[in-house]
Amino acid sequence: MLPQTEVSQLKEEIMRLKKERNAVIMAHYYQSPDVHEVADFVGDSLELARKAATTNADVIVLCGVHFMAESAAILCPDKTVLLAEAQAGCPMADMVTGEMVRERKKQKPDMVVVSYVNTTAEVKAESDICCTSANAVKIVQSIPEGKEILFLPDRNLGSYVMKKTGRDMMVWDGFCCVHNRIKPEEITKAKQAHPSAIVLIHPECRPEVVSMADCVASTAGIIAFARQSEAKEFIVVTEVGILYQLRKACPDKEFYLPSETLLCANMKKITAEKVKNVLETMEPKIVIQTDIYEKALQSLKKMLAVG
Ligand code: 13P
Ligand code: SF4
Repeated sequence: MLPQTEVSQLKEEIMRLKKERNAVIMAHYYQSPDVHEVADFVGDSLELARKAATTNADVIVLCGVHFMAESAAILCPDKTVLLAEAQAGCPMADMVTGEMVRERKKQKPDMVVVSYVNTTAEVKAESDICCTSANAVKIVQSIPEGKEILFLPDRNLGSYVMKKTGRDMMVWDGFCCVHNRIKPEEITKAKQAHPSAIVLIHPECRPEVVSMADCVASTAGIIAFARQSEAKEFIVVTEVGILYQLRKACPDKEFYLPSETLLCANMKKITAEKVKNVLETMEPKIVIQTDIYEKALQSLKKMLAVG
């Protein structure tokens, strides 16, 4: 984290630029503490999409990965959406392309395609409905029984949703390289070190890890659970960035990560300095291809209507 004096100076400059541009800074929980400090809003993927859809600002600076900025751009066609670092991508989102989905749809034209928001705008345009880790169970439950479902791209979230809903789905073979790395032995070790701790796990982890959770939830869900829980200690199985807001929300509680590898290098490409730079240069802008725009919007809108 930057020294407090530098953060204060950066904050001042960012405040001035924000006013000038009528901009809002939205950050995902996995961002570094400096970015949380300059953000107007910090949330999970679902909250960021909801917030983008309702903001009055002219400019949205998205501090997250590329698909999050694309979702904001799709939901706000009249606003300028800037991604705080052009190279911040999500490797899982790149595990499926629009062309691959089109090929699968040729084989099964009647199936319903549910895509995790961790996908490109082109894949969203080929999908019937989107979901996030916060609402995936609800979204799948909203699909009429008997319909075949293709869930993409996260095989771990897909497996969790199948277990929760009892629905059989065709699940893509994608994964998050950060969450998928965690092994059950690491959770066992953390539990031995902190026997009274409650285990909070993100559903992008492997099924054998997810089955060890006391609570499975999105990043916002993990924070909400820790906040209302009577417990004082928690093992947190998601990206390290979440600790900043957890400790802020629950200063009297202890949070432990089972592994130092829980770090998303793409999320960490963004710094407060870069936030200032994009507000100055107004680049890079996220532009959605006009031929896919309407269909991608429908998939996101359907998701927001379900919840
Ligand atoms: P959330 O939906 O919990 O914000 O997670 C997004 C993500 O990319 C997790 O790796
Ligand atoms: Fe993508 Fe995983 Fe990083 Fe989330 S944590 S942005 S799914 S690589």
